[in-house]
Amino acid sequence: MDSIRVTGNGPLYGTITIAGSKNACLAQMPATLLSEEPLTLTNAPNLSDIKTMTELLRSLGAEVSSMQNGRVLTMSGHDIGKHVAVYDIVRKMRASILVLGPLLARLGRAVVSLPGGCVIGARPVDLHLMALEALGAKLELRDGYVYASAKNGLSGGLVEFPFASVGATENAMMAATLARGSTILKNAARDPEIVDLAICLREMGAKIKGEGTSEIAIEGTDRLHGATHSVMADRIEMGTYMLVPGLCGGEIECIGAKTTLATAFCEKLSEAGINVEETKKGVKVSRKGDHVKALNVVTETYPGFPTDLQAQMMAMMCIANGESVLEEKIFENRFMHASELIRMGASINVQGGTATVAGVKKLKGAPVMATDLRASASLILAGLAATGDTIVNRVYHLDRGYERIEEKLRNVGALIERMSG
Ligand code: EPZ
Repeated sequence: MDSIRVTGNGPLYGTITIAGSKNACLAQMPATLLSEEPLTLTNAPNLSDIKTMTELLRSLGAEVSSMQNGRVLTMSGHDIGKHVAVYDIVRKMRASILVLGPLLARLGRAVVSLPGGCVIGARPVDLHLMALEALGAKLELRDGYVYASAKNGLSGGLVEFPFASVGATENAMMAATLARGSTILKNAARDPEIVDLAICLREMGAKIKGEGTSEIAIEGTDRLHGATHSVMADRIEMGTYMLVPGLCGGEIECIGAKTTLATAFCEKLSEAGINVEETKKGVKVSRKGDHVKALNVVTETYPGFPTDLQAQMMAMMCIANGESVLEEKIFENRFMHASELIRMGASINVQGGTATVAGVKKLKGAPVMATDLRASASLILAGLAATGDTIVNRVYHLDRGYERIEEKLRNVGALIERMSG
C-alpha cells in the first residue's frame, strides 16, 4: 500500500487547478442508463471512484470509454443487458446505489446490492427506497440486495424527505424523469451537485424545475436523448486547498474555484482571519498574520458548512489561536482523523458529535493512518504545518477523491512525495 511523506516547509505560493467534482460526476454517470443515446461528460476527474462507477456501468452492459486521461467520459446505455448491480462492485463505493433509480426507470426492474456502511457511518439507503416507492416501485430487501420492480413503469408522485439526503434526491430526480406524470420532491437536497445533475438531465431532455431549492418538480417524459455536459468544479477539493495558507502561510490561487460553491465555508475562512479574494481565474487565498483565529463550526446540509470539509478545517483549528468547537451533525462517526492529529501533538477532545480543539503552537510530524477520504486530506494538510516528516499510510483512501494531490502541492513548494509500499 502506498504512503505519502510530507515535510513541513513553511509558506507555500502558487496556483492549483481544481478538477471536476467527484460527487457531481458520480451522480451524472448513472444518468446514461436513462437513455439509448450517448452521454458525454467533460471535465471529469481522474479518480479511483470514477473507475469504480465505470466498472459498475460496464457490468450492466453500458459502454463507457474514457479519453484524455479520464477527463472525457463517453457512455452509452443503449444495450443495458443486465439489471443486477453486484455486491462485489457496490461494496467498493456507496455511490453505486445511484444506479437503482435509473435502472428502474429505464427497465422497470433492478436488483442492487445494499452498499453497506463505511467508517464514517451506517449510511442507510431507506430514503432512496422511500422515494422510489412513492413513484410506484415495489421493493423487497433480500439477502443484502434491493429487488425493485415497476411492471408498468414508474408513475409521478409526491416525495417528502424527512432529511435532505443528497443521494436520495439524486436517485429520485433521475427516476422521475421517465415516470408517467409529474413528481414533486419536498425537502430535497439543495447542493450544487444536485443543480449540476439537473442541468445534465435537462440537456438530455428532462423537464425539471426548482433544483437548488428544497422543492423540485419533474415532469416525466417517454425518453431522454443524448447530451454532452461539463462537470462542475469540485468544491470539496477547492475547500481543501483553500485551507493551505491557513495551515502554513503563503498565498494560493485555486484556478476554476468559485466562492459561491461553498459560501458558508468561505465565510468561516474569513472569520479565521484568512483573505479570500475572487480573481478572473478563480479564488486567491492568503493568511493575515502568523496564526488563524479559533472558530466554532457546525456541519449542516447545504447551504450550511459542508461535512466533507470538517476534517480539513479541524487540521487548521489544531494550530489556531484559542479553542475551537466543531460539531458534526451529518454523520455519526466522522472524527476518525482526531486521534491521528493527536499523534501529531494536537489537543482535541471528542465527546459524541462534538470535538473541542485547543490550538497549539506547532504540530510535530509523525506516522499516521488514513481512515477515510476526507480524514486523509486532513492529515496531509496537518503535515504541511508540522515540523519534520509526516507519513500518511493507506493513501488509497485519498486517491478516491483527490487527483495527483502530491503533484499539485509540490507545484506550490510543498515537500511531499508518494512512496509505494
Ligand atoms: C453524499 O453522500 C456525498 N457523496 C458525501 O460525500 C457527502 O458527505 C454527503 O452527500 C453529504 O453532503 C456523494 O455524493 C457520492 P446523504 P450521501 O444521503 O448521498 C443519512 C465524500 O467524502 N441517510 O446526504 O450518502 C446518512 O446516513 C462523501 O465525498 C439516511 O439516514 O449523503 C447520513 O447520516 C462522503 N438514509 C446523512 O443522511 C438515507 O437513505 C447524509 O447522507 C440516506 C442518507
